[in-house]
Amino acid sequence: MAVTLTINGKSIAAVGGLSLFDQAEALGIDVPTSCRKQGKCKECMVEIVEGVDSLSPIAEPERHLKGKFRLSCQTYVTGESGHVRYHTMRRGHMRIESGAEGMPATGLPFELDPAVTRDGDRILIDGVEMDHSTGPIHGIAMDLGTTTVVLRLIDLETGRLIADTSFENPQRFGGSEVMSRISYDTDHPGRLLMRTLAGYLSHAIEKFPVDPKTIYEMVVVGNSTMRDLFFWQNVYSIGQSPYQSITEIEMAEGKRSTTSLTQTGLHSLLPIHPKARVYGAPIISGHVGADAAAGMLAADLANETRTIAIMDIGTNTELIVGNKDRILAASCPAGPAFEGGAIACGMPALDGAIEEVHIDGDGEFKFGVIGDVTPEGICGSGLIDVLSELLRTDQMNERGRFEDDLHRIDLYKDEDQSVYLLESDVNELAQAKGANVAGLHAVFSTYGIDFQDIDVFYLAGGFGRHINVEAAKRIGLVPNLPEDKIVRAGNTAIEGATIALLSRKKREELEEMVKRVEHCRLETHPNFFEFFVEGCQFKLVEPIPCAK
Ligand code: FES
Repeated sequence: MAVTLTINGKSIAAVGGLSLFDQAEALGIDVPTSCRKQGKCKECMVEIVEGVDSLSPIAEPERHLKGKFRLSCQTYVTGESGHVRYHTMRRGHMRIESGAEGMPATGLPFELDPAVTRDGDRILIDGVEMDHSTGPIHGIAMDLGTTTVVLRLIDLETGRLIADTSFENPQRFGGSEVMSRISYDTDHPGRLLMRTLAGYLSHAIEKFPVDPKTIYEMVVVGNSTMRDLFFWQNVYSIGQSPYQSITEIEMAEGKRSTTSLTQTGLHSLLPIHPKARVYGAPIISGHVGADAAAGMLAADLANETRTIAIMDIGTNTELIVGNKDRILAASCPAGPAFEGGAIACGMPALDGAIEEVHIDGDGEFKFGVIGDVTPEGICGSGLIDVLSELLRTDQMNERGRFEDDLHRIDLYKDEDQSVYLLESDVNELAQAKGANVAGLHAVFSTYGIDFQDIDVFYLAGGFGRHINVEAAKRIGLVPNLPEDKIVRAGNTAIEGATIALLSRKKREELEEMVKRVEHCRLETHPNFFEFFVEGCQFKLVEPIPCAK
């Protein structure tokens, strides 16, 4: 009996003597490579989901990889029978948010004032000549997330979006969350995380429909670890109490006036103009990064008279509350559960992910699956729906226990595939939710307001854009606010990065605003643990009265 391979959801019988790379190629699957299978570029990485025991031993060029990650050009099927399931790191087109919605700054309501300009055939940056060309002038806005990377290519003379793209952050081989990436970067010499990312980014930029050398500026936002890794900074201090970026430490020591970073295109190892400026937007703290700062710019918080909240739910949930007079920020280490990490059948929001769940009158599960294909797993919005539906139909109680002594609920099953939810998954989700809710209560009570005092509650991030708000309220992931106060804003980070790319005035506003943000350290809040325990239950989040 031959070994069956399932690659990115497509199955074939394994052919002897071919590497996992070749087997994928035979199925017409594009595997990233720059070294033509020589084991040098490290880009052909795949994640083995099943059947790791049927594969050849780890080869020398893949010693840097951890867990289930392998270099597909170095890995062969050695087993006689069974099933090997793996996927490439750039599988399908990730569902990205190419825009933010319902935010004041959306749609160029500010003056186009980019740093890169033209004077005849002279290309200038901040008025200083950097090149001679009569060709177009482009810029890139990038949201560099722990899980996904989003790029926008912009015409700097018109502000027009030319193209956008996204992919799974290939740095996952160093762990799925920032703390693992920090230890990986600290323990492995050679800056492998950044070098691997640079390879993927270069391919993405080369696929844009313009000459990469016409890209003269790039604005990078991301959490503090992702941003600092991209700028070759030592990230060790972000992983140690008091969790500060090296840029914050240097600023406190008077060695720099901002936490923003700049380097050249050449230094970034990207194929853009070698003298291009790559600007890393300022961070708020070690765990409230430039992505949150960019979200504040997109929300026009510097000029906002209403009191607003921005919640970006993720491995590290970021919370911002405030208005033009006072801004408070915090981060909650919620873990990867709501992004599908640490969940038996969890997966990112890719083709094959269950994203919507409804239980009908007959108790049957009905799904919405991304890409309208056979379900392979379940992503964050699907997890929120399934919890809400199990709660609504009394198949799960507020403590996350299944009825009838069940420990597993099958959502989908066919001959090859089953997607299910374990009680232990619910436990992971409960803890992630507990951290988020504790963060909300701690930030609001520190600010001295209740949830009802909020005029707009923005749910940011690709995840926030797709969740069913009613389901999120039912399980108590977001406050029980009237529907018209909750805005599913989408990717506010890429929106803010774009604004900073197109307007020097707005970039200055961002630099100034970040310096005014108060950082709320959740772990020091006297009621944090109590809030956390309360937040682990699946029920509506109501305000906890606070002293005003
Ligand atoms: S193709 Fe370059 S390392 Fe495998």
